[in-house]
Amino acid sequence: MNKINSIDEYHEEYAKSVSDPERFWAEKAETFSWHKKWNEVLEWDFHGPSVKWFKGAKLNITENCLDRHLENNGDKVAILWEPNNPNESSIEITYTELHSRVCAFSNVLKRNGAKKGDRICLYMPMTPELAIATLACARIGAVHSVVFAGFSARSLEDRINDATCNIVVTADGGFRGEKIIGLKNIVDKALENCPSIEKCIVLKRTNEEVEMKSGRDVWLHEELDRVDDVCPAEIMDSEDMLFVLYTSGSTGKPKGVVHTCGGYMVYAEYSFRNVFQYRDEDIYWCTADIGWITGHTYIVYGPLLAGATTVMFEGVPSYPDAGRFWDICDKHKINIFYTAPTAIRALQACGIDFVNKHELSSLRVLGSVGEPINEEAWHWYNDEIGKGRCPIVDTWWQTETGGIMISPLAGLTSLKPSYATLPLPGIQPCLVDADGNEILGNDVQGNLCIKFPWPSMIRTTYGDHKRCKDVYFSAYEGKYFTGDGCRRDEDGFYRITGRVDDVINVSGHRFGTAEIEAAIDEHENVVETAVVGYPHEIKGQGIYAYAICHDPKVDMTSFIQEINKTVTEIIGPIAKPDKIQIVHGLPKTRSGKIMRRILRKIAEGDVSNLGDTSTLLDPSVVEEIKTGAGLV
Ligand code: WTA
Repeated sequence: MNKINSIDEYHEEYAKSVSDPERFWAEKAETFSWHKKWNEVLEWDFHGPSVKWFKGAKLNITENCLDRHLENNGDKVAILWEPNNPNESSIEITYTELHSRVCAFSNVLKRNGAKKGDRICLYMPMTPELAIATLACARIGAVHSVVFAGFSARSLEDRINDATCNIVVTADGGFRGEKIIGLKNIVDKALENCPSIEKCIVLKRTNEEVEMKSGRDVWLHEELDRVDDVCPAEIMDSEDMLFVLYTSGSTGKPKGVVHTCGGYMVYAEYSFRNVFQYRDEDIYWCTADIGWITGHTYIVYGPLLAGATTVMFEGVPSYPDAGRFWDICDKHKINIFYTAPTAIRALQACGIDFVNKHELSSLRVLGSVGEPINEEAWHWYNDEIGKGRCPIVDTWWQTETGGIMISPLAGLTSLKPSYATLPLPGIQPCLVDADGNEILGNDVQGNLCIKFPWPSMIRTTYGDHKRCKDVYFSAYEGKYFTGDGCRRDEDGFYRITGRVDDVINVSGHRFGTAEIEAAIDEHENVVETAVVGYPHEIKGQGIYAYAICHDPKVDMTSFIQEINKTVTEIIGPIAKPDKIQIVHGLPKTRSGKIMRRILRKIAEGDVSNLGDTSTLLDPSVVEEIKTGAGLV
């Protein structure tokens, strides 16, 4: 069953995966249902890059998520949905029901013109229909592009246009805590500039008044009345695109990371089963949103491939109060709980009373994802939530890696707070120095690369293969570069130290500093900005913006409000700066490059040791910035 049961077995499996990767992965892939097996397990070249797993194989991932469970597990709950409002009933959807609802939704997509290969944008709240729509796209061979429903109309528009989507699926609105987000209105705004969109399918969730544009917009419930629930799965090639998911990098606009069917399927299931040490009777809950890769792989695909019960939560951790997560854990008797350090820190700050009202006795495994977990949060999670008896899996991975890469296997690997510990079988990490040489041995530090392909790795960036090559495969000859710094300790355990590029991680959300700068620059009073991350107690990193203004004598309160409004319009509320400092100049080299190292130090409050500033065009700007003048 592809399950590792002891640490010795892990080491054996790992050794096999390195000595004969093709045989190793062929064995794992055997357990899935394929229409045709592969001619070749792996063909690869990191220079292209060109990576093909299970070449020539034919499959549909939804048959593996749904159809193959029907005979023995049709009545098992596949999705257990918990609404935003605790007074509304939760919903259980069995595998049989989910299969039928996915097929019906597939028919709605087809009725509205969807075909194999089309790109379909999903901009939806965390309702069961989001998971169903995701699977429906996969069922008919359309490529889903899920956009997190906290992004602005502009961000949505950019993503729709980049992938030339022809259909968008949304809802009238979404509930998030006390708030209602008017999703359809945001979509309407985006669609003013999206010529490729032909249809907009709308779920009724909040009963907001919305405008329905005739010929373009249709209600999902009315469409569902017009279709049956029989839909044979489209047969896909192993390397056909399964989805595109946009993520930020150090430069330019967010890029569409492309994942394909066969390899992603095998790795999603394998990593899910082993990292969490999943057992058939487990209730598993990942608190992410399906708008992020964590939701794709570990709410939808991984758990459903394994035939698990996956919990989906519509709301936020603080509503109706800071005990909501723990309330849900008790209510649904959660066994495996997977969340982000930022949520742990935020809940820790609300006080222990919210935890102590709950038993939390069903929990067996805890997980962490998205950013480094600091030791204090790790211990709180371990002691107060896990009561010292639940292993914590600190899972390191990325949108680009498709699945968990470095992580303990729950209960098997020994733990070390703030360490992601060891690579999964099939994953060959290495550390490189500034010259690109591999750093061998232990007790070392460097930039984290992966030197051999794994099944769920990025295949390209949508519409721009060169970008994929430049960003990931050019920094170090013959290796995939992650963008993260990493330490390997004396025992060979890995600890991720954070990004070494201009990507910042704010509450587990990834942003390029350039992307936020471009948004702030759109404010009419702003001449130029430089954005850096700084350590933030709850968010992990906060956003610090230095801005040069045409008129520096602004009313600070309204300036902040305006900047926040601008950033919210262009990216979304999650990218609002935490601190803004109005400055007269930015530290630039003679060639005009901003010296972010200096700005980072100042933002961290470490002004005593700014290093060499002699190459600056005008060193006096640093003196001004250092004083903190203009900081709001
Ligand atoms: C960071 C999220 C430390 C890292 C799945 C990576 C982590 C980026 C961890 C990817 C972890 C993710 N420890 N850092 N356990 N997990 N990161 O694409 O910097 O949203 O490069 O994928 O998050 O973020 P992404």
